[in-house]
Amino acid sequence: MAFKLPELPYAKSALAPYLSQETLEFHHGKHHAAYVRKLNELIAGSRFAEMPLEEIIRTAGPGEVLNNAAQHWNHSFYWLCLRPKGRGKPVGALADEIRLAFGGFDEFRKKFAESANSTFGSGWAWLVLKHDGSLAIEHTPDAENPLPRGEKPLLTCDVWEHAYYIDYWNARANYVEAFWNIVNWEFVAANME
Ligand code: FE2
Repeated sequence: MAFKLPELPYAKSALAPYLSQETLEFHHGKHHAAYVRKLNELIAGSRFAEMPLEEIIRTAGPGEVLNNAAQHWNHSFYWLCLRPKGRGKPVGALADEIRLAFGGFDEFRKKFAESANSTFGSGWAWLVLKHDGSLAIEHTPDAENPLPRGEKPLLTCDVWEHAYYIDYWNARANYVEAFWNIVNWEFVAANME
């Protein structure tokens, strides 16, 4: 059972001008594809070969298998967090929970951006649902994600340079600012249920 690179649920040009077609061609077609290829090479014939992706991430422990499995999961999730012309704001229960946890949507955006921008080197910013049902902002280095802690990711922003360098060069903060224009809040809300 080899893992497959998922198709994007939109055209590679659809997230422009916030993310260009060229960025998606490299990020999805080269970087994400390479994680999937490498993962399949690593797990062939191993105890991971028939394991669901989440189980590999929860059980593999530090190393190449975990890194490539988590990067496959993280990117698959990231693509679904995005959509052309995101609606701009969460509504309903998600909006209520964000208000409860962070004081409001603007405060949440500010704190999430601070987390994304302060991640040293490569990593990911997350909005997660914690064990007690509350929302939290986290950032993880490199390939790490919140799954091994048993937390439920609701939203992520990839802050590896490969996510933004073609469009924003070294200005990660501009990429994170643009990110808000293409967030799929319906997907985020569905993850909370
Ligand atoms: Fe990435």
